[in-house]
Amino acid sequence: MRILITAGPTREPIDPVRYLTNRSSGKMGYALAGAALEAGHEVDLISGPVNLAAPEGVHFRSIETAQEMFDAVAETIPGADVAIFCAAVADYCVKEVAGEKIKKADGELTLTLVKNPDVLGSVRSVFGFEGFLVGFAAETENLEENAKGKLRRKSCDLLVANDVSRSDIGFDQDENEVLFFFADGREERLAKAGKREIAREIIARVEKALQD
Ligand code: CTP
Repeated sequence: MRILITAGPTREPIDPVRYLTNRSSGKMGYALAGAALEAGHEVDLISGPVNLAAPEGVHFRSIETAQEMFDAVAETIPGADVAIFCAAVADYCVKEVAGEKIKKADGELTLTLVKNPDVLGSVRSVFGFEGFLVGFAAETENLEENAKGKLRRKSCDLLVANDVSRSDIGFDQDENEVLFFFADGREERLAKAGKREIAREIIARVEKALQD
């Protein structure tokens, strides 16, 4: 199968030297790319800026902003059987990016933020993707309720949720503890494990769902 994976954070510029970003390390997405390759699949990895080497053999595209992520996914998704959206895409970008470095002045500085495109949220409605769709949800509260909402709103087949309020798992950690929510109502909790192991479990669930 051909599997498209998004990974890492996005980086939204403020001026030529500053940007807005988040704590995503890309570890989960890169582990998924490795696990998908190991299982014999073709992998397109679209990644924000991270300190990781792309696994050998992937078709790799590096992007910075959410808009670039959107454009790269729009180009790549027509060839995909499965799409896994692991990236922590910034929900907002700065409305007017300054052409020169912003100098400090007295008083407050206000940045106006505008909404970025929702890449995963566009996959069915805008790109017309009909393959198997996996979304991620990183939550600090109401994990189950928020995850189920995202599963429905973004028309996913599988939503992988984790609690990022815990410091031992999730962002920038090597381990994770995730819950699976399937579109048919099934739920499953995986025990805490390395991201590599969790990645193998996710790829196995996708393969099984497509066999059934
Ligand atoms: N996602 C995306 N594009 C965005 C925002 C999110 O593709 N602009 C994807 C993520 O890759 C992830 C899923 O949507 O698979 C959920 O991301 P999250 O940030 O938790 O969802 P939001 O829609 O931003 O929801 P909220 O702000 O309500 O938590």
